[in-house]
Amino acid sequence: MAVADRERWDARHAAAGAAGAGPSPAPPDALRGREALLPAPGRALDVACGRGTVAVWLAARGFAVDAVDVSPVALDAARALADREGVGERVRWWAHDLDAGLPGAGPYDVVVCQRFRDPARYPDLAARLAPGGLLVVTVLSQVGEGPGQFRAPAGELRAAFGDLELLHHVERDGEASLVARAPLTSATRSSRR
Ligand SMILES: C[S@@+](CC[C@H](N)C(=O)[O-])C[C@H]1O[C@@H](n2cnc3c(N)ncnc32)[C@H](O)[C@@H]1O
Repeated sequence: MAVADRERWDARHAAAGAAGAGPSPAPPDALRGREALLPAPGRALDVACGRGTVAVWLAARGFAVDAVDVSPVALDAARALADREGVGERVRWWAHDLDAGLPGAGPYDVVVCQRFRDPARYPDLAARLAPGGLLVVTVLSQVGEGPGQFRAPAGELRAAFGDLELLHHVERDGEASLVARAPLTSATRSSRR
């Protein structure tokens, strides 16, 4: 990412902070009303975590969270939120440019990527999932909004994650969301019986 683009994100996050109310922990939008799909606490990855609302929500549910974003301003706000909620020990904040790939090896029981779209990263998201792990993705969509450089064409998420078990998929009003689960390996299946 160009320095100017990172600075633009920093400025947006700084403006959100200056606007008053700090971030609050919140589930990923695609999981609202579907929280029962969340597996037992394990490891979670929040990709392009912004000001940490989802990462801190996961940490408050007992997950050990790795959270990645390019903006140090966003990560400072996220760190402050985690400390305020008493879960600072449970989150690792990574300042990293996703243009250079996804850091960390996983496997993760939950991978969230909300409102950051880079189709080149889709295979990495799926590859970081543990057997039976949950993927939660929301991106801007052309469906209900029309073409746009940063918007996913219809069917993009479903096609990209076709190897996973689809639990929820919706495309409307300019957003596309998908919740899906990685297959269990045969070894995992028998150990869970
Ligand atoms: C629209 S915000 C979404 C933040 C958060 N996921 C949420 O739902 O509130 C997009 C985030 O992606 C981050 N971002 C954009 N490009 C990035 C890149 N190349 N590498 C890492 N983070 C990036 C921005 O700093 C910003 O926090």
